[in-house]
Amino acid sequence: MDIVEQVRQNLKEALRYISDRMVGEIDVGIILGSGLGRLVDIVEDPITFPYGEIPHFPRSTTEGHMGNLVIGKLIDKRVAIMQGRFHHYEGYTSAGISFPIRVLKGLGIKTLIITCAAGGIRSDLKQGDIMAITDQINLMGTNPLIGPNDDEFGPRFVDMAEAYDGGLLATARAAAIQEGIDLKEGVYVGVLGPSYETPAEIRFLSTIADVVGMSMVPEVIVARHSGVSVLGLAVVTNTPDSKHKVSHDEVLVEAQKSSGRLIKLIVNVLEDI
Ligand code: HPA
Repeated sequence: MDIVEQVRQNLKEALRYISDRMVGEIDVGIILGSGLGRLVDIVEDPITFPYGEIPHFPRSTTEGHMGNLVIGKLIDKRVAIMQGRFHHYEGYTSAGISFPIRVLKGLGIKTLIITCAAGGIRSDLKQGDIMAITDQINLMGTNPLIGPNDDEFGPRFVDMAEAYDGGLLATARAAAIQEGIDLKEGVYVGVLGPSYETPAEIRFLSTIADVVGMSMVPEVIVARHSGVSVLGLAVVTNTPDSKHKVSHDEVLVEAQKSSGRLIKLIVNVLEDI
Protein backbone atom coordinates (compact mmCIF):
# COMPACT_ATOMS: atom_id res chain seq x y z
CA MET A 1 0.00 0.00 0.00
CA ASP A 2 1.44 3.42 -0.87
CA ILE A 3 1.56 6.19 1.71
CA VAL A 4 -1.54 8.00 0.42
CA GLU A 5 -3.57 4.76 0.67
CA GLN A 6 -2.10 4.06 4.12
CA VAL A 7 -3.12 7.48 5.48
CA ARG A 8 -6.64 7.08 4.05
CA GLN A 9 -6.91 3.66 5.68
CA ASN A 10 -5.62 4.98 9.04
CA LEU A 11 -8.03 7.89 8.90
CA LYS A 12 -10.95 5.58 8.16
CA GLU A 13 -10.08 3.45 11.20
CA ALA A 14 -9.77 6.50 13.49
CA LEU A 15 -13.08 7.94 12.27
CA ARG A 16 -14.85 4.60 12.60
CA TYR A 17 -13.61 4.27 16.20
CA ILE A 18 -14.97 7.72 17.10
CA SER A 19 -18.21 7.47 15.09
CA ASP A 20 -19.08 4.12 16.71
CA ARG A 21 -19.18 5.92 20.07
CA MET A 22 -21.14 9.06 19.19
CA VAL A 23 -23.84 10.25 16.82
CA GLY A 24 -24.05 13.07 14.31
CA GLU A 25 -21.71 15.49 12.59
CA ILE A 26 -19.48 17.97 14.36
CA ASP A 27 -19.85 21.69 13.57
CA VAL A 28 -16.75 23.22 15.07
CA GLY A 29 -13.28 21.93 15.96
CA ILE A 30 -11.34 23.61 18.75
CA ILE A 31 -7.66 23.15 19.57
CA LEU A 32 -6.62 24.19 23.08
CA GLY A 33 -3.03 25.28 23.62
CA SER A 34 -0.69 25.20 26.62
CA GLY A 35 -2.53 25.86 29.88
CA LEU A 36 -5.84 26.47 28.08
CA GLY A 37 -7.45 23.05 28.49
CA ARG A 38 -10.30 24.01 30.85
CA LEU A 39 -12.86 24.82 28.17
CA VAL A 40 -13.77 21.13 28.22
CA ASP A 41 -15.26 21.58 31.74
CA ILE A 42 -18.30 23.36 30.30
CA VAL A 43 -18.97 20.93 27.46
CA GLU A 44 -22.40 19.28 27.77
CA ASP A 45 -22.67 15.49 27.46
CA PRO A 46 -18.95 15.11 26.86
CA ILE A 47 -17.43 11.95 25.45
CA THR A 48 -13.70 11.87 26.13
CA PHE A 49 -11.33 9.96 23.89
CA PRO A 50 -7.77 9.80 25.25
CA TYR A 51 -5.53 10.19 22.20
CA GLY A 52 -3.98 6.80 22.96
CA GLU A 53 -7.34 5.08 22.37
CA ILE A 54 -7.94 6.51 18.90
CA PRO A 55 -6.33 4.31 16.24
CA HIS A 56 -3.26 5.97 14.64
CA PHE A 57 -3.71 9.22 16.62
CA PRO A 58 -0.37 10.67 17.83
CA ARG A 59 0.28 11.06 21.59
CA SER A 60 0.87 14.38 23.33
CA THR A 61 4.24 14.67 25.08
CA THR A 62 4.26 18.30 26.26
CA GLU A 63 3.49 19.18 29.86
CA GLY A 64 0.28 21.22 30.08
CA HIS A 65 -1.18 19.35 27.12
CA MET A 66 -3.63 16.73 28.37
CA GLY A 67 -4.07 14.52 25.33
CA ASN A 68 -7.84 14.08 24.94
CA LEU A 69 -10.32 14.55 22.14
CA VAL A 70 -13.53 15.71 23.82
CA ILE A 71 -16.77 15.62 21.84
CA GLY A 72 -20.00 17.20 23.04
CA LYS A 73 -22.19 20.27 22.92
CA LEU A 74 -21.24 23.86 23.64
CA ILE A 75 -24.01 26.47 23.30
CA ASP A 76 -25.96 25.05 20.36
CA LYS A 77 -22.91 23.70 18.53
CA ARG A 78 -21.54 20.19 18.34
CA VAL A 79 -17.85 20.55 19.07
CA ALA A 80 -14.76 18.37 18.96
CA ILE A 81 -12.08 19.76 21.24
CA MET A 82 -8.44 18.75 21.09
CA GLN A 83 -7.20 19.16 24.64
CA GLY A 84 -3.52 19.12 23.79
CA ARG A 85 -1.76 19.40 20.46
CA PHE A 86 1.28 18.21 18.55
CA HIS A 87 4.33 20.28 17.74
CA HIS A 88 7.11 19.75 15.23
CA TYR A 89 9.64 20.17 18.08
CA GLU A 90 8.34 16.96 19.68
CA GLY A 91 9.66 15.16 16.63
CA TYR A 92 6.33 14.62 14.86
CA THR A 93 6.53 14.32 11.14
CA SER A 94 4.28 16.20 8.74
CA ALA A 95 1.94 13.22 8.75
CA GLY A 96 1.69 13.20 12.57
CA ILE A 97 0.84 16.88 12.71
CA SER A 98 -1.71 16.62 9.88
CA PHE A 99 -3.57 13.53 11.06
CA PRO A 100 -5.62 15.08 13.94
CA ILE A 101 -6.76 17.94 11.68
CA ARG A 102 -7.84 15.42 9.06
CA VAL A 103 -9.78 13.55 11.75
CA LEU A 104 -11.60 16.78 12.72
CA LYS A 105 -12.37 17.45 9.06
CA GLY A 106 -13.60 13.86 8.68
CA LEU A 107 -15.96 14.42 11.64
CA GLY A 108 -17.57 17.20 9.61
CA ILE A 109 -16.12 20.49 10.88
CA LYS A 110 -16.37 23.59 8.69
CA THR A 111 -14.75 25.87 11.27
CA LEU A 112 -11.66 25.43 13.43
CA ILE A 113 -10.88 27.64 16.42
CA ILE A 114 -7.20 27.36 17.30
CA THR A 115 -5.82 28.75 20.54
CA CYS A 116 -2.23 28.98 21.71
CA ALA A 117 0.17 30.61 24.10
CA ALA A 118 2.53 33.03 22.39
CA GLY A 119 5.33 35.41 23.15
CA GLY A 120 4.45 39.07 22.64
CA ILE A 121 6.86 41.00 20.43
CA ARG A 122 5.01 44.23 19.59
CA SER A 123 5.81 46.84 22.20
CA ASP A 124 2.21 47.56 23.30
CA LEU A 125 1.49 43.91 24.18
CA LYS A 126 1.24 42.85 27.81
CA GLN A 127 1.15 39.50 29.59
CA GLY A 128 -2.42 38.23 29.55
CA ASP A 129 -3.48 40.02 26.37
CA ILE A 130 -5.64 38.00 23.99
CA MET A 131 -4.88 38.45 20.29
CA ALA A 132 -6.93 37.47 17.27
CA ILE A 133 -4.46 36.34 14.63
CA THR A 134 -4.88 38.15 11.33
CA ASP A 135 -2.15 36.37 9.36
CA GLN A 136 0.87 34.16 9.83
CA ILE A 137 4.47 33.70 8.76
CA ASN A 138 5.95 30.21 8.58
CA LEU A 139 9.55 30.31 9.81
CA MET A 140 9.50 26.70 10.96
CA GLY A 141 11.61 25.53 8.06
CA THR A 142 9.12 22.79 7.37
CA ASN A 143 5.55 22.32 6.19
CA PRO A 144 2.94 19.74 7.24
CA LEU A 145 1.99 19.12 3.60
CA ILE A 146 5.44 17.84 2.65
CA GLY A 147 5.15 14.44 0.99
CA PRO A 148 2.77 12.96 -1.57
CA ASN A 149 -0.45 14.97 -1.85
CA ASP A 150 -3.82 13.27 -1.51
CA ASP A 151 -6.14 15.16 -3.86
CA GLU A 152 -9.10 13.85 -1.85
CA PHE A 153 -8.04 16.12 1.02
CA GLY A 154 -7.02 19.16 -1.01
CA PRO A 155 -4.83 20.52 -3.80
CA ARG A 156 -1.05 20.13 -4.03
CA PHE A 157 -0.53 23.90 -3.91
CA VAL A 158 -2.66 25.61 -1.29
CA ASP A 159 -3.83 29.20 -1.49
CA MET A 160 -3.07 30.99 1.80
CA ALA A 161 -4.41 34.46 0.93
CA GLU A 162 -6.97 34.17 3.74
CA ALA A 163 -5.28 31.85 6.23
CA TYR A 164 -7.49 33.29 8.98
CA ASP A 165 -11.10 33.83 8.00
CA GLY A 166 -12.21 37.48 7.77
CA GLY A 167 -15.79 36.68 8.80
CA LEU A 168 -14.68 34.79 11.90
CA LEU A 169 -12.34 37.64 12.78
CA ALA A 170 -15.28 40.08 12.60
CA THR A 171 -17.30 37.72 14.82
CA ALA A 172 -14.44 37.62 17.36
CA ARG A 173 -14.20 41.43 17.36
CA ALA A 174 -17.92 41.75 18.10
CA ALA A 175 -17.75 39.03 20.76
CA ALA A 176 -14.84 40.79 22.48
CA ILE A 177 -16.79 44.06 22.64
CA GLN A 178 -19.78 42.27 24.19
CA GLU A 179 -17.55 40.56 26.77
CA GLY A 180 -15.55 43.71 27.58
CA ILE A 181 -12.32 42.15 26.35
CA ASP A 182 -9.65 44.37 24.81
CA LEU A 183 -8.94 42.07 21.86
CA LYS A 184 -5.61 42.75 20.16
CA GLU A 185 -4.96 41.83 16.53
CA GLY A 186 -1.75 40.90 14.79
CA VAL A 187 0.50 38.58 12.85
CA TYR A 188 1.80 35.30 14.31
CA VAL A 189 5.20 34.03 13.34
CA GLY A 190 5.71 30.30 13.83
CA VAL A 191 9.18 29.08 14.78
CA LEU A 192 10.31 25.50 15.33
CA GLY A 193 11.51 25.78 18.95
CA PRO A 194 11.80 24.28 21.50
CA SER A 195 14.40 26.89 22.49
CA TYR A 196 12.94 30.33 23.10
CA GLU A 197 14.16 33.28 21.06
CA THR A 198 17.45 35.06 21.55
CA PRO A 199 17.37 38.88 21.85
CA ALA A 200 18.72 39.08 18.27
CA GLU A 201 15.95 36.78 17.04
CA ILE A 202 13.33 38.90 18.82
CA ARG A 203 14.77 42.02 17.21
CA PHE A 204 14.57 40.34 13.81
CA LEU A 205 11.06 38.93 14.40
CA SER A 206 9.79 42.33 15.59
CA THR A 207 10.27 43.61 12.04
CA ILE A 208 7.86 41.00 10.61
CA ALA A 209 5.34 39.95 13.28
CA ASP A 210 3.52 40.81 16.52
CA VAL A 211 3.64 37.51 18.41
CA VAL A 212 5.80 34.38 18.18
CA GLY A 213 5.00 30.76 18.94
CA MET A 214 5.81 27.15 18.16
CA SER A 215 2.38 25.89 17.09
CA MET A 216 -0.60 27.21 15.10
CA VAL A 217 1.10 27.56 11.69
CA PRO A 218 1.10 23.88 10.57
CA GLU A 219 -2.45 23.33 11.86
CA VAL A 220 -3.70 26.32 9.90
CA ILE A 221 -1.97 25.10 6.74
CA VAL A 222 -3.58 21.64 7.01
CA ALA A 223 -6.99 23.15 7.80
CA ARG A 224 -6.83 25.49 4.79
CA HIS A 225 -5.66 22.60 2.59
CA SER A 226 -9.04 20.96 3.16
CA GLY A 227 -11.09 24.16 3.04
CA VAL A 228 -11.75 24.56 6.77
CA SER A 229 -12.12 28.19 7.98
CA VAL A 230 -9.88 29.20 10.86
CA LEU A 231 -10.11 31.57 13.81
CA GLY A 232 -6.78 31.92 15.65
CA LEU A 233 -6.63 33.23 19.23
CA ALA A 234 -3.34 33.65 21.09
CA VAL A 235 -2.76 34.44 24.75
CA VAL A 236 0.33 36.57 25.28
CA THR A 237 2.13 34.73 28.09
CA ASN A 238 5.43 36.58 28.07
CA THR A 239 7.04 39.67 26.60
CA PRO A 240 10.73 40.39 25.88
CA ASP A 241 12.52 41.54 29.02
CA SER A 242 16.25 41.19 29.41
CA LYS A 243 15.99 40.96 33.21
CA HIS A 244 13.57 38.07 33.12
CA LYS A 245 14.01 34.59 31.67
CA VAL A 246 11.00 32.95 29.97
CA SER A 247 10.11 29.42 31.09
CA HIS A 248 7.46 26.89 30.13
CA ASP A 249 6.12 27.03 33.71
CA GLU A 250 5.52 30.77 33.38
CA VAL A 251 3.85 30.23 30.00
CA LEU A 252 1.47 27.68 31.59
CA VAL A 253 0.65 29.88 34.61
CA GLU A 254 0.00 32.96 32.49
CA ALA A 255 -2.11 31.01 29.98
CA GLN A 256 -4.20 29.56 32.83
CA LYS A 257 -4.76 33.07 34.24
CA SER A 258 -6.20 34.21 30.91
CA SER A 259 -8.16 31.07 30.17
CA GLY A 260 -11.37 32.38 31.82
CA ARG A 261 -11.49 35.37 29.47
CA LEU A 262 -10.55 33.24 26.48
CA ILE A 263 -13.35 30.77 27.27
CA LYS A 264 -15.87 33.63 27.52
CA LEU A 265 -14.71 34.89 24.13
CA ILE A 266 -14.95 31.45 22.49
CA VAL A 267 -18.43 30.81 23.93
CA ASN A 268 -19.62 34.17 22.60
CA VAL A 269 -18.11 33.42 19.17
CA LEU A 270 -19.86 30.03 19.10
CA GLU A 271 -23.21 31.75 19.63
CA ASP A 272 -22.68 33.64 16.38
CA ILE A 273 -21.36 31.00 13.99
N1 HPA B 1 8.39 32.07 22.06
C1 HPA B 1 7.92 31.02 21.37
N2 HPA B 1 6.84 30.33 21.74
C2 HPA B 1 6.17 30.75 22.84
C3 HPA B 1 6.59 31.85 23.58
C4 HPA B 1 7.78 32.55 23.17
O1 HPA B 1 8.21 33.53 23.79
N3 HPA B 1 5.71 32.00 24.61
C5 HPA B 1 4.78 31.03 24.47
N4 HPA B 1 5.06 30.26 23.40
